[in-house]
Amino acid sequence: MRLSNKNILLGITGCIAAYKAGYLLRALMREGASVRVMMTESACKFVTPLTFESLSGQPVMVKMFPEGRFTSVHHIHAAEWADLILVAPATANTIGKCAAGVSDDLLSTVICAAQCPVMFSPAMNSFMWVNSITQYNVAKLKAAGCEFIDPEEGDLASFATGPGRFPEPETIIERVVEFFSRADDFTGKRVLVTAGPTHEFIDPVRFIGNPSTGAMGYALAVAAVRRGAEVGLISGPSHLEPPPVTDFQTVVSTEQLAEEVLARIDHYDVLIMAAAPADYTPKDSYNQKLKKSARAMSLKLEPTIDILKEVGKSKGDKILVGFALETQAEITNARKKMVDKKLDMMVVNNPLVEGAGFGIGTNKVTIISGKSKPEKLPLLPKHELADEILNRIKELL
Ligand code: CTP
Repeated sequence: MRLSNKNILLGITGCIAAYKAGYLLRALMREGASVRVMMTESACKFVTPLTFESLSGQPVMVKMFPEGRFTSVHHIHAAEWADLILVAPATANTIGKCAAGVSDDLLSTVICAAQCPVMFSPAMNSFMWVNSITQYNVAKLKAAGCEFIDPEEGDLASFATGPGRFPEPETIIERVVEFFSRADDFTGKRVLVTAGPTHEFIDPVRFIGNPSTGAMGYALAVAAVRRGAEVGLISGPSHLEPPPVTDFQTVVSTEQLAEEVLARIDHYDVLIMAAAPADYTPKDSYNQKLKKSARAMSLKLEPTIDILKEVGKSKGDKILVGFALETQAEITNARKKMVDKKLDMMVVNNPLVEGAGFGIGTNKVTIISGKSKPEKLPLLPKHELADEILNRIKELL
């Protein structure tokens, strides 16, 4: 029984896969979990609360204001009771409402009030799943720390085939078990993450930069928060929503990034430098916009401070993790950087490889930890890769 002592609030929303939630409920109970069920009004059109009351032996919560019962804070009580809210199946509608902070029924209100983690297992028609608005909402919830079990490909209720299928209960159970095994394993640890590019201004309207979006660093910060760490995130220019970290600081230049890292580093156990700081900055800065001319122009650049190297000088027992962006001789070059900067771990990626690099949701990396053999990971979504990286950092702590 791998879920003994776990309180799981199972949220069932309105789609045909709602009937499968009965199997899921019993599978959760077989693993030892205490399960309470909450259904949306639409879910009740597909299956009745009585089904789940019979299966769980508990009253099923549906209405925000049920008559004849004291209800003023029952959404708060339900949220406090749960160790995990599992919304399965989760419709595009409920996902959209949660992403927008709408709380117009009991389930969305409880999710809004939740202090515990929330996991969604979406099930819907393929077109609804791939719809850019649905995907935007999913990305927003992931950035806020919610977990997602991606729907599977297969036959759908609409007789079409494609992504959107509700996974089998065993698959969901494995994800829930895996979630609890890593939840809180960073409690008491302090993790500082840097993310995004830096911009080195040439004049008021032009800068030297790179295409980093900050996605990898933000995913690492979100995962570390979810796993119980106290997290600081220092970000270069990025359009991403700030995750729920303890300390969030934005910077523009490498010099500012260095200042903020060095001012905080003593407080932290781990530094993950996922940022892509510019290595050079213009020697001269111009207060006015430079005017073009027909002549060739040259710009004098000087090196910026190497932040990791600076931190490495008085490393103590801190864990330092670097990201190496290499387009050739990846492992040899990354090992050199590790020694030079006194790093415990290096995450190496080659932006020329398909699925890796800037501005996309996935990455393909090799992890070098200490003197052990480099470990090649498969192509992974950045939020999953974040957990893989944290798993390996945990082994070093
Ligand atoms: N880094 C840093 N300070 C800099 C530049 C990079 O701390 N001024 C960090 C990055 O955040 C990354 C690691 O060093 O974690 C390696 O960055 P990378 O750009 O791959 O290597 P560089 O040391 O900059 O060397 P090169 O650009 O020549 O490959």
